[in-house]
Amino acid sequence: MRTVTFLPSYRKIDVPRGTTVLDAAQRAGLSMNVVCGGQGKCGKCIVYIQSGRAEFDRQKFGRFFSDAELQKGACLACETIVQGDLHVLVPESTLIQEQKILVEGLDHEIEFRPSVRKYYVELQPPSLADPSPDLSRLLWGIQKSGGPVAEKMYAPLEVLREIPSILRHSDWKVTATIGLVPGGYRVIDLQENDTSKRAYGAAVDLGSTTVVVYLWDLVTGKVVGVASNYNKQISCGEDILARVNFARKNGLTKLQALAAESINQALTTASNSAGIDREDIYDVVVAGNTVMTHMLLEIDPAYMIAEPYVPVVRRALSIAAHRLGINCNPNGGVFAFPAVSDFIGGDIIADILACGMGERDEISLLVDIGTNFEVVLGNREWMFSCAGAAGPALEGGEVLFGMRANPGAIEKITIDPVTLDPEYSTINGIKPRGVCGSGLIDLLAELLVVCVIDRTGRINTEIEHPRIRKGTHFPEFVIAWAKETDIGKDIVITENDIKNLIMSKASVHAACVTLMKEAGVTHKDISTIYFAGAFGNYLDKKNATIIGLIPEIDLNDIKNIGNGAVTGANIALINRRARKTLDDIAYRIAYIELNAESSFMDEYTGSTFLPHTDFSLFPGVQ
Ligand code: FES
Repeated sequence: MRTVTFLPSYRKIDVPRGTTVLDAAQRAGLSMNVVCGGQGKCGKCIVYIQSGRAEFDRQKFGRFFSDAELQKGACLACETIVQGDLHVLVPESTLIQEQKILVEGLDHEIEFRPSVRKYYVELQPPSLADPSPDLSRLLWGIQKSGGPVAEKMYAPLEVLREIPSILRHSDWKVTATIGLVPGGYRVIDLQENDTSKRAYGAAVDLGSTTVVVYLWDLVTGKVVGVASNYNKQISCGEDILARVNFARKNGLTKLQALAAESINQALTTASNSAGIDREDIYDVVVAGNTVMTHMLLEIDPAYMIAEPYVPVVRRALSIAAHRLGINCNPNGGVFAFPAVSDFIGGDIIADILACGMGERDEISLLVDIGTNFEVVLGNREWMFSCAGAAGPALEGGEVLFGMRANPGAIEKITIDPVTLDPEYSTINGIKPRGVCGSGLIDLLAELLVVCVIDRTGRINTEIEHPRIRKGTHFPEFVIAWAKETDIGKDIVITENDIKNLIMSKASVHAACVTLMKEAGVTHKDISTIYFAGAFGNYLDKKNATIIGLIPEIDLNDIKNIGNGAVTGANIALINRRARKTLDDIAYRIAYIELNAESSFMDEYTGSTFLPHTDFSLFPGVQ
């Protein structure tokens, strides 16, 4: 064996004497420009031999290099044979330049390096002099065209069965689709002639309510379609718990089919609008919570909802699409994000990938709020996570006039400190029908600031004002009079609504502080707070701090990453390196069970004040 060291990266590989430098480079994982497929014709695979023994035909190189360049050791990698240990300089211009693209929801570019690539190859037919098998011939052809090393590729039985007829029907001109899988590369598909410009992939956010699909062109790096629809599993239960119970009563197969159908519906909408054949979709990346992922894979989720809350699998999985009923190329792959625990699932790992907190030295806090909330604290070295029930109040449930963020929902409110008249805006600008989460946070903060409520959330009924009244069951504040609403009655917030809201915000804040104590850090050590999910989209950062929903830090350091699950899935679809890091991220996160933390209850009690019993935690709020 001979050792070839590639500079400037110092990547080393041991190869048998007689190997070409191009072959050695590909084995070492370097992607070189090989326009002519290693036939010595294009002159693109330029390298410089720095030291060691190599064999080549200097005359052949004459038309590509000047004498001065030849003096410096210039040669073509595909025409240079390794004879002894070598040091080879690979100029940047010889390497395939990675494309960088901007992913929606991110403020920086991502390297475009998908896990699936197509290679068009023209092969020599077999002969008595060269009777090597069809598969070997194909794999060598792919390698010569700049693809992975032949030995690292394999073809599943379904593709093997197709190979002989496709090769011969196409006069040995074929396009192979190669996908990166754990441990090597899989030949996903083989097509006649040159179809190398048609390769697509889908990033999926499999939510328990909504399924979102981003369809990508894996050749150009562009999004070609976006679609979303309801998760059809809703017909088997509104919330996760109801669906797990449905699964327990022999309903798991149905839930799996409904999850696949929900993805398929969005895939169909996106591919139809882009005029794409679904057979050309080869890679589907799915980020979902742990229960959703189990259900898509038809794995029993029952043991996750009872102590000791054990999922069946936490690691990332790659499965052939046809096994899950996903309507893309049947040999295409479905990649499912890994999870940390029953509650910290692939959607949160996707959030972490989207905000990048797992790659930085600075400490960040990630908060994802829905009916349940998930919180992650940490940096590139360590991360703690927890989850809990926020109660539906922050999503508009358990609040008399609360509603989801639908048209007519009051989403922003300010209250005049003198007249106590609210000024609000609604989604779609129509007459108000209720108040959604962001409006409720505003309301709580504004009522506190204008002293209509005290720090415990009690309405001051001593104030004489038409908007402050006793109410049927609880004291209430009138947000909008009947004549200005779409529902023909006064929209109010009651003292009981406020109590429910405070309990919800207290759970979230107490969870944040519990993790901070576990990690031995204070709010001063947190560089950034990220909000993920729809709730964060319209949230007023200042008001969220005033009521003590989150620890107080500089408002400029509070960021909203929107739908981090789909952003993370997009990143994992188009960047193979990012996909490889996911299991590592998941294993680095310690999960803290809040129910088992005695300090959580203490923190919760302190957090049931606005903003907190301990004012020193909120110096800016006073
Ligand atoms: Fe074309 Fe070497 S000359 S790959």
